[in-house]
Amino acid sequence: MFVVIALLILLVGFHLHYMMVRAGIIPMLVPRPIRREYIGLVDDILRHDEFMKLKDFFHHTNHIYDHVVRVSFISYAISKMFGMNYKAAARGGLLHDFFLYDWRERKASDESRALHGKEHPHIALENARMHFEVSELEADIIVKHMFPKTRHLPLYRESVVVSVADKISTIYEYYCHFLRRNR
Ligand SMILES: [Fe+2]
Ligand SMILES: [Fe+2]
Repeated sequence: MFVVIALLILLVGFHLHYMMVRAGIIPMLVPRPIRREYIGLVDDILRHDEFMKLKDFFHHTNHIYDHVVRVSFISYAISKMFGMNYKAAARGGLLHDFFLYDWRERKASDESRALHGKEHPHIALENARMHFEVSELEADIIVKHMFPKTRHLPLYRESVVVSVADKISTIYEYYCHFLRRNR
């Protein structure tokens, strides 16, 4: 939880920094995430027929496609700002939940209610490898994104970034859902 709060504070800090850069108050200090560049890195995945099927499966408060794009862009932005491999973060983030089923159905038939949480990173990696080139770093990002639940330590900084971005996105999605319901 501390890491999530620290990252949220960092994101607000970066946002303020960009506002000041835009206003010409201070020069650009960190590389800026650019949406067009991001799309160029992941366009083949975003438009792939099999990947588009994620729009058919519910996840948190919307469909999986919506969630993975959010995680991917946040991971890309953070990785770029900190000089990491932002291409791998963008692609790994996009593929981290590439499982093509409704997890609520799986949980309903799973007595321990833990199978989906532990298995879906491996299912996502299998699907990713079936349709795309997946580097060693991207594979680590996908398989370790459920840390600490799966207890497999991320080997790379980008894997930590995607894992944290996943948690931030989940909190954000439930928060927006809560606001909509209480309007
Ligand atoms: Fe996941
Ligand atoms: Fe996720």
